[in-house]
Amino acid sequence: MTRQEAEATLARDYPPNDCPALTAQHNAWGQARPLAGLTVLDATPLFRNTLVKHLALQAAGAEVWVGYGRAMPFDPIAAEMTPVLRLKIPDAARLAQGFDVVLDCAAAFSDIPARLGYAELTRSGIAGYRTIAKSKPVFNVDGSRIKTFETALGTGDGLIRGLRHFGINDLHGKTAVVFGCGKVGRGILFRLAHEGAHCFVVDPARPLPPQDVTLANDPDALLRRADLIVTATGIKDAAASHAPAILASHAILANMGVEDEFGPTIPADRVLNAKAPLNFVLTDPTRMRYIDPTMALHNLVALRLAQTDFAPGLFLPDPADESAILASLPKSLVDELTAFETAQQGASHV
Ligand SMILES: NC(=O)c1ccc[n+]([C@@H]2O[C@H](COP(=O)([O-])OP(=O)(O)OC[C@H]3O[C@@H](n4cnc5c(N)ncnc54)[C@H](O)[C@@H]3O)[C@@H](O)[C@H]2O)c1
Repeated sequence: MTRQEAEATLARDYPPNDCPALTAQHNAWGQARPLAGLTVLDATPLFRNTLVKHLALQAAGAEVWVGYGRAMPFDPIAAEMTPVLRLKIPDAARLAQGFDVVLDCAAAFSDIPARLGYAELTRSGIAGYRTIAKSKPVFNVDGSRIKTFETALGTGDGLIRGLRHFGINDLHGKTAVVFGCGKVGRGILFRLAHEGAHCFVVDPARPLPPQDVTLANDPDALLRRADLIVTATGIKDAAASHAPAILASHAILANMGVEDEFGPTIPADRVLNAKAPLNFVLTDPTRMRYIDPTMALHNLVALRLAQTDFAPGLFLPDPADESAILASLPKSLVDELTAFETAQQGASHV
């Protein structure tokens, strides 16, 4: 495959209306080349749609190095496309030399020197950057409003597409129980409620659940009659103490967390995708529509690090940069975000 063919394949699979923020960035940066001469290590989980993010950085003139395989899953087909697109894969010696900017995920490359600073995509990764932030600027992209598109709406959508992949299409009137009422769990609950499911959440922290969702007081009784059970806590074995009730149910089981949240008593073949995050069975675990704004914001932070001499510390992306990206998105997507945010205000406990 030539570079031209690879670019044509990506343009076909991810047309501009699917990634308006990255397209606008690519076009503007291709003219101005604001990252010319800089090296950027990008550790965004490597899937085919991530390559569109890399190409925007490349259009800006950056020498783009792709970090993968340390903490997060990756798509081998996307990895095979990197050399064709003149994206570079660093070996240990090149990593040790460092880069101008590190765009990280899950703090996988926090040990790599970054002359201008870092931008981290995940909340858990930020914990790995607290010490580094004493000597370098670190941007917390997870703390942005825009990240909600990916973490909440994108994972909710990824769950539904994953279920469809296994032939589960109709959730109307079904009883769904979700473990975990964090960002991901809330996105899943929002989407399940939209699909017409009766939604319940189990979370020992007893947060205020979203609209149309009930916080379960007696999880085992509920689990026994559930049609769908989803884990999204980020905690290994989170549902393990409920294994007897889960195994007694006829429910479809799906894990959306990185760890095995169902625990050792529940066999892998009882859980869709053998306990791996359900949406990772798909070519694009998160649809481009939902990941485009986050990837554009992550890239934009590289530009801000290049333009401004930031003091060491932990920073949130500039709200003006978030607004500019939001302005490039279709109204339907921004409306979806607003509806999700509104739904977070309702609550009921039983
Ligand atoms: N599949 C994907 O595409 C995808 C995308 C992003 C994140 N994730 C993963 O989703 C997981 C959750 O992420 P998050 O950002 O929502 O985390 P979070 O910390 O915001 O929320 C987790 C919630 O789970 C609750 N919880 C903890 N232990 C529990 C238990 N035993 N039972 C029930 N609830 C419990 C916590 O009280 C908290 O409210 C992580 O593993 C994350 O890596 C997956």
